[in-house]
Amino acid sequence: MSAMRHLLDLCKRRGFLFQSAEIHGGLRGAYDYGPLGVELKRNLSQEWWNAMVYQRSNVVGIDTAIITPPAVLKTSGHVDQFTDEMVDSRLSKERFRPDKAPELKLIEPTAVTTSPVLPITAPDKITAKAWEHEIRTQFAKGALITRKGKEIQLQVERMEKNKIILKKDNNHPEAETNLQIPYHGYVDPNSNSPFLTESRPFNLMFKTYLDPIDPIDRVISTALTSERAGQDKATTRQEVDKTLYPSLTYLRPETAQGVFINYATVQRSHPHLKVPFGIAQIGKSFRNEIRLEHAIFRTPEFEQMELEYFVAPWEAGREFELWRQSRMDWWRYYARNPAKVRERAHAQDELAHYSSGCVDVEYLFPWGWGEVEGIANRGDFDLKKHSEATGIKLQYTDAALLQERQQREKSSGVKEVSKEDQDRERFIPHVVESSCGLNRAMLAFMLDAMEVVDDQGRVVELEGGETEDSKGNSAGKSKSSSSPLRTIMKLHPRLAPVKVAVLPLVSNNEDLMKVCQGISQSLRQELQVNVALESQSTTVGKRYYRMDEIGTPWCVTVDYETLQDQSVTIRDRDTGSQRRVRIDEVLDIVQDGLRL
Ligand code: GAP
Repeated sequence: MSAMRHLLDLCKRRGFLFQSAEIHGGLRGAYDYGPLGVELKRNLSQEWWNAMVYQRSNVVGIDTAIITPPAVLKTSGHVDQFTDEMVDSRLSKERFRPDKAPELKLIEPTAVTTSPVLPITAPDKITAKAWEHEIRTQFAKGALITRKGKEIQLQVERMEKNKIILKKDNNHPEAETNLQIPYHGYVDPNSNSPFLTESRPFNLMFKTYLDPIDPIDRVISTALTSERAGQDKATTRQEVDKTLYPSLTYLRPETAQGVFINYATVQRSHPHLKVPFGIAQIGKSFRNEIRLEHAIFRTPEFEQMELEYFVAPWEAGREFELWRQSRMDWWRYYARNPAKVRERAHAQDELAHYSSGCVDVEYLFPWGWGEVEGIANRGDFDLKKHSEATGIKLQYTDAALLQERQQREKSSGVKEVSKEDQDRERFIPHVVESSCGLNRAMLAFMLDAMEVVDDQGRVVELEGGETEDSKGNSAGKSKSSSSPLRTIMKLHPRLAPVKVAVLPLVSNNEDLMKVCQGISQSLRQELQVNVALESQSTTVGKRYYRMDEIGTPWCVTVDYETLQDQSVTIRDRDTGSQRRVRIDEVLDIVQDGLRL
């Protein structure tokens, strides 16, 4: 089983992550965070906020609107330049990034001609994925011909490798439901033939309309008027755009723009902020990604943790280096395997339209290195553009320097100021940005923490690669042998969703339960952390393993001895070691373990 499949099974079983709207068939790329997932995500964002805002006297936070008027994103360059190249698949209507498409295996499919199935017309060449989609689509229409020559409707139940299983229909017991689909075999990695279209730019932003009238009705009436006037398609398109523009808004593609458009308001309300200073924001961003992949790694809706750090232009290089180091330190501090975190500088042709230099923080995911954060030197691009578009000066005045010169001029009676002095007294700050994906970071830290061991306690290496969809194995069991596997989530204690579990030796003893409630209550109140009271009637060992699986760093067991001498057993998740301590020592042990 792949590491990713193992993790996703665990996430679902233990309540970290669920496919969104699953009971309605699910929505691709949309995920809901369960009770443990929400704790882990909150802890992660809290650690980031602590490091970026609370530990610095010159950084403040902000929370800006998601719905953004076009003027902001036109000015920032996103309307014209926030694009990916896209090609259409010939049959499947799927969209691929051309640079990703050659990775897909091309195959030479054979038409499905075996009786009793209606033949599917096969193209010359198509990707395996697109071919599967095509077969699904054709079967979804339900046209099958049975041996008796009757057309009937059958739904696809599931696809397996080279096989399609249709739903049995009691009205048509004669219908074949287990069909072989011959698409194995020939691979031609050099051909691009599955694509119809030339590659073209595709804007990644989601549009939405603040309009009580359905925009489709507006489009229809404008198009009809245009048609009656005999206008061509291009003119009609212009008319439609003009009609819709007053209500057009975008879902923000990054949180950063909310900071730039508030640069002046934050400065005015916080005059103590002197360059260098930063504005941090955590919030949702949206991108109509062409390729959704690896569960929460790339989704249309995601959360970003961004810091825009405003610096003097001549300090930008030095500040960039400081941030790059500081962010690498942050990642390596929380990672169990710091060697799986690296930095990678962007080549010139990879840079975003606003950036003059960028380093990615990458994590070694099971499928290879993947970006989790970008540290960019945005120069004065954003403030300058918003300043030009609005006529509002978004600059910084070094009041102390200005005053100093004015004093000098007053006492000497000579008014002379060099260009260099002026540039240092008043300038558009440059921006060093640190932009981290919260969901992606959560995925990285979970994979990083996950250790799978067999019944002898030996670490088991899971497979890398893509998330395969097989539902063959339930998590926690090995593939074929009867040897059970168990998982220990060795999360940093500050990230762990549950910090301490308190366990009565047996659950049906009122005295033990009372002590457990007392301990968990005092931990909750004193440390303000999430504590679990694990009183299921399973063995203590099984309860320890359940807590290991969700990453609980400490388990405290209350037994009959406790009632005599006020001592409990405290167990460490990572080593499995246990020791006997006094109840009043538990708080200090946990507090120490949670210290940064
Ligand atoms: N303001 C700069 C900016 O948005 P980015 O490299 O496009 O830069 C920053 O995004 C981070 O946001 C990425 O490193 C990644 O962690 C996260 N991210 C971007 N697109 C994402 C998506 N579709 N799904 C999940 N996370 C994403």
